[in-house]
Amino acid sequence: MPLSVVILAAGQGTRMRSALPKVLHPLGGRPLLQHVISTARELQPHSIHLVYGHGGEQVREALSHEPVRWVEQAEQLGTGHAVAQSLPGIPDENTVLVLYGDVPLIGLDTLKALVAQAERGSLAILTAELDDPTGYGRMLRDADGRPTGIVEEKDASAEQRAIREVNTGFLACNAGRLRGWLGQLSNDNAQGEYYLTDVVGMAAREGAPVTSSQAANEYEILGVNDRVQLASLERSWQRRQAEALMRAGVTLADPARFDVRGRISAGRDCFIDVNVIIEGEVTLGEGVRIGANCVLRNLRIGDGVEVLPNCVMEDAVIGAGSRIGPFARIRPDTELAEKVHVGNFVEIKKATVAMGSKINHLSYIGDTIMGSGVNVGAGTITCNYDGAYKHLTEIGDDVFIGSDTQLIAPVKVGAGATIGAGSTITKDVPAGELTLSRSPQQTRKGWQRPQKKKP
Ligand code: UD1
Ligand code: CA
Repeated sequence: MPLSVVILAAGQGTRMRSALPKVLHPLGGRPLLQHVISTARELQPHSIHLVYGHGGEQVREALSHEPVRWVEQAEQLGTGHAVAQSLPGIPDENTVLVLYGDVPLIGLDTLKALVAQAERGSLAILTAELDDPTGYGRMLRDADGRPTGIVEEKDASAEQRAIREVNTGFLACNAGRLRGWLGQLSNDNAQGEYYLTDVVGMAAREGAPVTSSQAANEYEILGVNDRVQLASLERSWQRRQAEALMRAGVTLADPARFDVRGRISAGRDCFIDVNVIIEGEVTLGEGVRIGANCVLRNLRIGDGVEVLPNCVMEDAVIGAGSRIGPFARIRPDTELAEKVHVGNFVEIKKATVAMGSKINHLSYIGDTIMGSGVNVGAGTITCNYDGAYKHLTEIGDDVFIGSDTQLIAPVKVGAGATIGAGSTITKDVPAGELTLSRSPQQTRKGWQRPQKKKP
């Protein structure tokens, strides 16, 4: 049976106190709503309908790449009204699954179970037993435990409020049946809203089958209404990322101090120290060690690489056996071959460095092609920018560059060349020779420093 997913995201989210719509706030580096859409897509539905509210243009823009049908709910008249807005686009034979843009961690297996129940002909609802059910709709059952309805907290009697089984809001149902019930909704209740939850009572009264199931984990059904709840779900998300990684063979110094805001995959026996942030796509080979306080974004890191503490690295490939940091910055389009050493206070941008070269101290290497076995002395700078254009520096194999050298690009240094310390290189350097540019050293014999006159 074809599946149509309806995602409700028209709420204002006022308690976030934010200019950014609630469903665009990030969790694990991706908007809340993006998590929900991704999970929905894993169900391979026939269609996804996204119900957005007044001012939701920002949401549409941020997620314009997603294959969803945007349904505007201009006035928020209730969850039942919201689902009804999407129904004209859904054929009667489809199964409808209702999700929430602000409940980001709902699990795939939980949803599959709901859909399977609906496909067997029932109105399937997801409930939960909570120690503190405050704020939720309560599940009503008859003496035999059969669902008879859902009562919202604001409409509930004191007795009903004592019920700890709550409605999570998630449900699945045949579209034709849902259409029929939603058409009969009234807003004669404490909030003056069209409640989606009223369909449960309607189904029960008609004798239509109503089934319920529960999610395996409590975090799956928790929504985000304010930043406190957002932070708490962020922690459960991060905990799960950390656990998956540890199960895959990575040692984390402290899983509570590790954040994935993208995706990471790793070979066996990697070690990641505290306060490391992963963004984008990061791949680690085997036996990689990442020191404390590193930010790693979009990287391919080879076997046995050691990244020492406090490095910031993005959009780069790091060859096996290389050693980076501490305090190194690797910027986009950097490709280091095997066994390259990059030391403290070194910045590398748009450069390829061949095997075994060393840039160990206080250097800027940009727009550079560097050969193998090169030794770059402390304080060496490629002057790649003339104020208008970037220029290339080419350094051959086995070059030795003395400390505090400026290479004024475009410039080429031939293989095996040696450059004397303190040189400003403006012309190509021949292979195999010593080249230096240095003003001659002078000594003024007997010269005296100026003295302050005594008053
Ligand atoms: C709803 C359920 C309640 C359940 C709770 C779980 C109803 C009537 N009640 O209550 O039983 O325990 O969720 O969190 O369904 N929305 C729209 N358009 C609207 C109204 C809401 O898109 O007109 C969206 C909101 O953005 C939100 C979701 O629906 O994501 C839930 O709406 P909300 O008003 O927060 O429902 P609750 O009162 O929490
Ligand atoms: Ca809510």
